[in-house]
Amino acid sequence: MNKKEFDNFFKPYSKNVDNANKHGFWKLSDALIMQIIRDNIPVDIGEESIILDAGGGTGRWVCDLSKIYKSKFIVYDLSSDMLEEAEKNIKNSDIESRVQLIEGDLKNMEKLKSDSIDYVISIYSPISFIYEKEKAFSEIYRILKKGGKAIIMGHGFYNAIFSKINNFCAEAVELNNLDEEKMVKWGDYVPKLNVFSKEILENDLQKAGFSIEKTYGVPVFVQPGYEDFDPENVKRSRISDALEREDFFSKVFELEMKYNSHSTVINRGMNMFVVAIKS
Ligand SMILES: C[S@@+](CC[C@H](N)C(=O)[O-])C[C@H]1O[C@@H](n2cnc3c(N)ncnc32)[C@H](O)[C@@H]1O
Repeated sequence: MNKKEFDNFFKPYSKNVDNANKHGFWKLSDALIMQIIRDNIPVDIGEESIILDAGGGTGRWVCDLSKIYKSKFIVYDLSSDMLEEAEKNIKNSDIESRVQLIEGDLKNMEKLKSDSIDYVISIYSPISFIYEKEKAFSEIYRILKKGGKAIIMGHGFYNAIFSKINNFCAEAVELNNLDEEKMVKWGDYVPKLNVFSKEILENDLQKAGFSIEKTYGVPVFVQPGYEDFDPENVKRSRISDALEREDFFSKVFELEMKYNSHSTVINRGMNMFVVAIKS
């Protein structure tokens, strides 16, 4: 993807993404991600630990995580538009002293020393936007300390096939390309994205040197409606409305967490979320 295509996508995206989790589907998805992070990064890590959010965008995860963890944070992102929003969010959360913003490409994190970071998180699939993904995985491995942990998300491959068949009745040629290239194009305004099965993402991380600790699908049962991708976040889907009911939300959350790391269920995930260790 060239710089123009990248900026054209992320400039408007940066203005709306922080409102997305007001809707039921994204609220649930965010709650699952937060739970998985809490289950895999101990809440008692010290003030000197560093959590780097790779492709951290508007810093919204760092703002939420700063309420749980005493650590320092780095938001690392290539988009100046996303980082502009991050700067405002971090100021509003009053956590400037604990957060560093770095503009740069995950394929070449030259501003960061080797073996210097305790945890890397990467949420809503920055690696799906990176065409030389191996370089990003190697860089994440390099900057982590020995024993450090990466929790990395990529768009799900099987979910992309499911959705292209059932929601789009895509042409045979498109389905064939998706299957062969492991890349999906969701719409004219969205760049082509890498998609991952559990096996592909685990294998990519292992090739970079990581050991795999655990993999989740996120979410595995709930499917978004097309309204949940409204760039202005105005339209609401049936499932997002239903998830406003507290009892329904809680039960769905419970079922998702109960089964989302079962080996026979993970690949149902809209996203794959892998916990990997630099051992
Ligand atoms: C879908 S957004 C997710 C943002 C954030 N993680 C969140 O959950 O709100 C993907 C992010 O990845 C960033 N990104 C894409 N390619 C990148 C690259 N090569 N290097 C660094 N960041 C990149 C984008 O700028 C964007 O902020």
